[in-house]
Amino acid sequence: MPRIAFIGAGRMASAIVDGLLAAGTKPTDLVCFSASGTTAAALAARTHIQKAETLEQACTDADLVIIAFKPQHLDTADHRLMALTRGKLVLSVLAAKTIDHLAAVFPHARNLVRTMPNTPSAIGAGITGWCSRTPLSASDRSIVVGTLGAIGQELEIQENKIDALMGVSGCGPAFVFEFTGALRDAGIAAGLTPEEAETLAVETVLGSARLMARTDASPEELRDQVTSPNGTTYAGLQVLKAREFRATMREVVAAAKTRSEELASGK
Ligand SMILES: NC(=O)c1ccc[n+]([C@@H]2O[C@H](COP(=O)([O-])OP(=O)(O)OC[C@H]3O[C@@H](n4cnc5c(N)ncnc54)[C@H](OP(=O)(O)O)[C@@H]3O)[C@@H](O)[C@H]2O)c1
Repeated sequence: MPRIAFIGAGRMASAIVDGLLAAGTKPTDLVCFSASGTTAAALAARTHIQKAETLEQACTDADLVIIAFKPQHLDTADHRLMALTRGKLVLSVLAAKTIDHLAAVFPHARNLVRTMPNTPSAIGAGITGWCSRTPLSASDRSIVVGTLGAIGQELEIQENKIDALMGVSGCGPAFVFEFTGALRDAGIAAGLTPEEAETLAVETVLGSARLMARTDASPEELRDQVTSPNGTTYAGLQVLKAREFRATMREVVAAAKTRSEELASGK
């Protein structure tokens, strides 16, 4: 792997660093920098990667520069980044920052990659959608796939679909957390203790997700396999149908997509 510089050393940078180290990248090939130095110092102390004292020190020997500060910091980022990323591959994890916007800040990068990771990346179980400014060379593609593969699965997607992806995988973990909490609360209402209901709800979501990932069957096929005519699952599913669960989910994802579009256009 190339030498990688992280500009911003918070939760997302930490997740990528952890994944890269677990995949065999040497700590000496990774360097981090943060505005105050506080998070960079903590990340370096925890993982033994290098902490840069200056932006120059972070970027000079790096081939890949990962932009991992908050989206609102992009327009006020240090102007030296423009020159310091000349000829380098720049990968942004900033939500709602378009390739055009990134290109204005990093105009001399050899290519730009916009990514949208999600929260399970923190444990290497994320799904990251990404797109690039221009088609990636074979070697840059392997750098991007190798880096994003360290925090889970990756999916190249056209930029005009990133807001839809945001609605499904970016925000999806929160929807699943909400569903799980609702399942737990429904279990309590049905007579379980909070502890029993929490264990049953979380393990059911976990086991079902594992089963979906391990089989070629669609979610609908798996649902039908456990639904006997007029049985218990059937009775519950009838309520979901009557309450238009699928129409509700369409609205949920559409609302997140619309908000993502608004944020990308600066609203
Ligand atoms: N966390 C997630 O699950 C997640 C998921 C998808 C996308 N993202 C994206 O990941 C990015 C980072 O999120 P996060 O959760 O990792 O945030 P975070 O934990 O709050 O970390 C933000 C980092 O940015 C640094 N920073 C702030 N201003 C800076 C500047 N001008 N120059 C250099 N570094 C600066 C901070 O450094 P100091 O505090 O040390 O100054 C800190 O290291 C965001 O753009 C977000 O959209 C996060």
